Amino acid sequence: MIYTNSTTITDEKVRELDNEWTSWGDTVHYSKNPKVFRGCEGSYMFDAKDTPYLDLQMMYSSCNFGYKNQRVTNAVIDQMNTLPQLTPKFIQPYKSLLSEKMATMIQKRFGVKGRMHYNVGGAQVTEDAIKIVRNYTKRQGFFAFQGGYHGRTIGATSLTSSFRYREKYGHFGDRANFVPFPYCFRCPYGMKCDSCDRFCIKQFARQFESEYKAIYDPKTRECEFKAFIAEPILGTGGYIDAPKWYFKELKQILDEYGIMLVVDEVQMGMYRTGKLWAIENYGVVPDVMTFAKSITNGMNPMAGLWAQEKYIAPDVFTPGSAHSTYCSNPIGVRAAYEVMNIVDEEGAVFEREIPRKSAYFMEGLNHLKSKYKFIGDVGGIGFALRMEITEADRYTPNKTLCDAMQEEGLKGDLTYNGKKCGLVLNNGGFYKNVITLVPQLYITDKEIDMAIDLLDQILSRLTK
Ligand SMILES: Cc1ncc(COP(=O)(O)O)c(C=O)c1O
Repeated sequence: MIYTNSTTITDEKVRELDNEWTSWGDTVHYSKNPKVFRGCEGSYMFDAKDTPYLDLQMMYSSCNFGYKNQRVTNAVIDQMNTLPQLTPKFIQPYKSLLSEKMATMIQKRFGVKGRMHYNVGGAQVTEDAIKIVRNYTKRQGFFAFQGGYHGRTIGATSLTSSFRYREKYGHFGDRANFVPFPYCFRCPYGMKCDSCDRFCIKQFARQFESEYKAIYDPKTRECEFKAFIAEPILGTGGYIDAPKWYFKELKQILDEYGIMLVVDEVQMGMYRTGKLWAIENYGVVPDVMTFAKSITNGMNPMAGLWAQEKYIAPDVFTPGSAHSTYCSNPIGVRAAYEVMNIVDEEGAVFEREIPRKSAYFMEGLNHLKSKYKFIGDVGGIGFALRMEITEADRYTPNKTLCDAMQEEGLKGDLTYNGKKCGLVLNNGGFYKNVITLVPQLYITDKEIDMAIDLLDQILSRLTK
């Protein structure tokens, strides 16, 4: 038995109680028959029969360092036994240690001094980033990407492109000016990568040519939008990585017109792409950077942001500007500090091993692509990998097959090395037809073989 189950309640009863007594407003009920899990360890989730499910989504990239990572668990237990609760009116050693550690690691990478600020989740730090921008620039407006996702609070929703999230609630803040993401497989301008001549970035630059383009006054050199919030790689948008040159050229335009770059590393940070921060793959320095999810390896709600000193110095972002009772809860902070120790000690190994394992995983995905005409595209960076599920023309999005693949994996009746198992998958993308492949960073070559084999079994069952 891999887990110690503290309750004997059956899966059917769990669902029955949930149906009756829990709000359906979260995302559980996207599924008709939500899966019940009882345990987790390393790369696996376990159901009531102790069947292992290889997990290729890792709590939406919140557990990069593996389920029940022993170092993080031990640190949390130590914190539970010493100072588990503390009002955010006071500080405790690990909060200061964490800030110093993170800010110096960031300074080493980006060459700029900054400070850390904490809150409880990704959406909440998006809100805090909005405050930092508005406080500094005295303007409201943001640019954001079509397909970008920054959380579902009202403020974060106004920067998240999907209308579905705003449809019923309207918006209190100013809705962002949404810019097409360089999604080369489905170019928003209908171009071909080899002949587009970087049309997308030129199109963005053209908006500043005249006041009649509605965002900029060339006489006063004032832009209505003072910040651009960007995921370096679209997460919920389908694990789409921009071409290598993109962010450098974007940043040049932003610098020319005095527009801040807010980088959202909530999903892609913490070595997901083989670099501590995904934006490092593109060689630009953010003004503000948000992070969450794997900062605690999924252990306790804690998130944060880093901002360059000029935006966050104590006389600029003054006491009380942002706060939550749980914003720097000692357990979250302690988990984050241990994660940063892991990152510090093992960073060089991650930088070497993730690209190697990623290339190995991609070999398997390319093999599947050549075998199944329903895979239109495969790609990604590091362990932020993607597989576009399409009709047989290898282009028309096929959400039905993508959904069926996830359901099939959750049945728990696949086999590997003669043993029953399952596969946990997630999807994303503009058409929700992309299987996003997000393993833990310690996934072994053998587990990658298993992942490809299980994907093969699923595709074979569903495309016969
Ligand atoms: C890039 C990005 N930003 C922000 C968020 C919001 O984070 P949270 O779910 O912790 O509010 C998410 C969540 O998926 C995300 O992927």
